[in-house]
Amino acid sequence: MMKAVRLKDDIYWVGGIDWNIRNFHGYLTQRGSTYNAYLIIDEKITLIDTVKYYLKNEMLERISDVINPSKIDYVVSNHVEMDHSGCLPDIIERAKNPKIFTSPNGEKGLKLHYKKDWDFNVVKSGDRINTGKRDLEIVLTPMVHWPDNMVVYSSEDKILFSNDAFGQHIAASERFDSEYHYDIIIEEAKKYYANIALPYSNQVKKALEGVSGFDIEMIAPSHGIIWKERTKEIIKKYQEWSSNETGNVALIVYDTMWESTEKIALAIYKGFQNKGVRVKLISLRNSHISDIMADMLTAKYICIGSPTLNMNLLPTVAGFLSYFKGLAPKNRIGLAFGSYGWAPKNIEYIEEALISCEFEILESIKVQYIPDDAFLMNLTEKIEKII
Ligand code: FEO
Repeated sequence: MMKAVRLKDDIYWVGGIDWNIRNFHGYLTQRGSTYNAYLIIDEKITLIDTVKYYLKNEMLERISDVINPSKIDYVVSNHVEMDHSGCLPDIIERAKNPKIFTSPNGEKGLKLHYKKDWDFNVVKSGDRINTGKRDLEIVLTPMVHWPDNMVVYSSEDKILFSNDAFGQHIAASERFDSEYHYDIIIEEAKKYYANIALPYSNQVKKALEGVSGFDIEMIAPSHGIIWKERTKEIIKKYQEWSSNETGNVALIVYDTMWESTEKIALAIYKGFQNKGVRVKLISLRNSHISDIMADMLTAKYICIGSPTLNMNLLPTVAGFLSYFKGLAPKNRIGLAFGSYGWAPKNIEYIEEALISCEFEILESIKVQYIPDDAFLMNLTEKIEKII
């Protein structure tokens, strides 16, 4: 039988481990993931969230390690997305119509997903769900990551059940930050923020304000490792990331057709290097867009290069720009570059993406067909001057 993991007295992790997932709506999850459900044993037995549908049996075994799932009285649904609500129908059937506590948008979303009129109890920020010894306080956190998101705080246990916020895609048998490699947790938390929360940074700030009055000893997110020893550090990281704080770092992201755009990329690289800026050269042919976004989260200069292809961009660059515009980082400095044959449409499309993110734009670099050595040398010097 799969075991439940105790967080504190009468509080257990009863989630599922998705060892093999490698693509999460376009996000490369090279370390797998977990879907974290939590069980509170109190006068009212309470389940917080569920797991993805195919890990139902794993979750049920973990719940059964503590209590018969039919005894669940309350289900708190923090988020409609199906990685967390996927097993609600089964739990609701087994527990014979328990009360479901969810946000106003949660009720709407769950009805649209499952077409059922369950025993919905709509909650808003400041409401408390009494489970006996505990009052679970609600903070609605809309758009972190969907309109329905909310978090729950137990003052009795000093645990924040934070749903998507503070999560990371890591499959591991370890549950707590004290047991796992801290640098990997932070790397994955950063990648998670960049690919999930970045477009909603203002809402993340509001959510941080909403929970700032709580005395938090533990953060129990809905993915990955539970924060126990480093809660203050991850909250500080979220404050930095949601404020668009960047380091003196440049990213040069490109693809190339006949190596002209790559030559330009290298000349730009040397300019940053000579100026003492930490710089990373990233070929879109060999890197995943979700890893690039993780680097972008803390980079100040974003240089994007493509040649023109059929009056457009190379497909790798076009795909990246579509993803990038959706995640919409802010407060950065952008540069478009690339070679072209007879129509510099490449620059137009790249600049359009950079402008849509409200970047400050440096003068673009375009070359017809092939840059010569003198041009490349001048370009390096120019970059040194303008940054
Ligand atoms: Fe992990 Fe937005 O769901």
